[in-house]
Amino acid sequence: MSKTLQAIRGMNDILPEQTPTWRYLESTFASLLDAYGYREIRLPILEFTELFARGIGEGTDVVDKEMYTFRDRNDESLTLRPEGTAGTVRAVLEHGLTGGGQVQKLWYTGPMFRYEKPQKGRYRQFHQIGVEVFNLPGPDIDAELIALTWRLWKALGLGDSVTLQLNSLGSSEARGVYRDALVAYLEKHFDALDEDSQRRLKTNPLRILDSKNAMTQALLADAPTLADYLDDDSRAHFEGLKARLDAMGITYEINPKLVRGLDYYGRTVFEWVTDKLGAQGTVCAGGRYDGLISQFGGKPTPGVGFAMGVERLVLLLETLERVPEALNAPAHAYLCAFGEEAERAAMALAESLRNEVPGLRLLVNSGSGSFKSQFKKADKSGAVYALILGDDELAQRVVGCKPLRDDREQQTIGWDALAAHLATCIEQA
Ligand code: HAM
Repeated sequence: MSKTLQAIRGMNDILPEQTPTWRYLESTFASLLDAYGYREIRLPILEFTELFARGIGEGTDVVDKEMYTFRDRNDESLTLRPEGTAGTVRAVLEHGLTGGGQVQKLWYTGPMFRYEKPQKGRYRQFHQIGVEVFNLPGPDIDAELIALTWRLWKALGLGDSVTLQLNSLGSSEARGVYRDALVAYLEKHFDALDEDSQRRLKTNPLRILDSKNAMTQALLADAPTLADYLDDDSRAHFEGLKARLDAMGITYEINPKLVRGLDYYGRTVFEWVTDKLGAQGTVCAGGRYDGLISQFGGKPTPGVGFAMGVERLVLLLETLERVPEALNAPAHAYLCAFGEEAERAAMALAESLRNEVPGLRLLVNSGSGSFKSQFKKADKSGAVYALILGDDELAQRVVGCKPLRDDREQQTIGWDALAAHLATCIEQA
């Protein structure tokens, strides 16, 4: 017997019950970004592997363990994008969008792929909405990005459920000096480190700071802290950011252990976290990556951005019951027709109603059926009215209009008056 085909583990179907919430989230965000003057960019899902290896960094979990990489028929190594920043940088360079100091404020959305251990809020195909800004070096734009996300949480009714964590990673030189100091300290305690941290000591020591291991965390209590190694410019940048957040009334927690898992960051890093989703509580994360473009061979160009996890935000909206009821609004009317001729007339009538009544949600019965069965379908659809078109109504160019959600009487309405009648009903609803 053949095996039933299933989706790949960690790659989810988004079923019709959920898509309205996705669209609500995406459209709320898109109109907000529009209002702030950000423009959408659409990027390929596949890129050359080298882009991510160089951009995100060898030694990061994403590059070392999580990429979906394969050789195509031309024997080129390609990778399903694990995130959107590297691809955006590649695109702006390729099209000269940042040349001559041009400012770019861009956003994107779409699926990303990481071979992670699937669990609630962590998937192998997941979706991000991300923003990347180029050629603005100051803390004002870091603050604007945070303000924009803060406005989104409020628009979605999530303002009380997320908190902002903030840190500065300093310049790459300062980070280098700090890294040496951290490694020197941890090497003295090598045997007490968890296995993952022992490995990271060689590949990516800063990531040890956000180890979940209790023993490692205890050791870190006395470790040198990054804040003590910040260079003056980074310190001034960080102060500038905090002052702007204070001015806007955006509260934050400084988290000196926030380092992020991708190599390209320097200076500002931030995460919006919630305690309502269990272990996968980061709903949005980002920071500054001023060195990334030059790493790809471009002129030094400041960059800063963030990405949010759509699945996690949908989960949060559902958990907190913040999905607006109106998203699942039923049809205004369900048109039943009886007999071949009436069915034909019903389709034409439906099209003219759709022309005349903007926003009309009208279902037309498909597959014929008795009066009883069509009426049952009309009721089950949740529609507010059943419109009835049989031979008699056809002859008189009228329909029966039966309210399905209250006990008002059925009315007979002429075809010419039906659009106006439905428009009034929609307004009153
Ligand atoms: P990231 O922290 O790797 O950053 O991912 C950003 C967000 O995507 C996370 O905070 C989380 O909400 C979501 N996310 C990540 N992995 C998964 C997963 N396996 N399942 C579900 N959701 C996930 C970046 O990707 C950077 N490119 C962000 C950025 C843009 N920084 C500057 N510009």
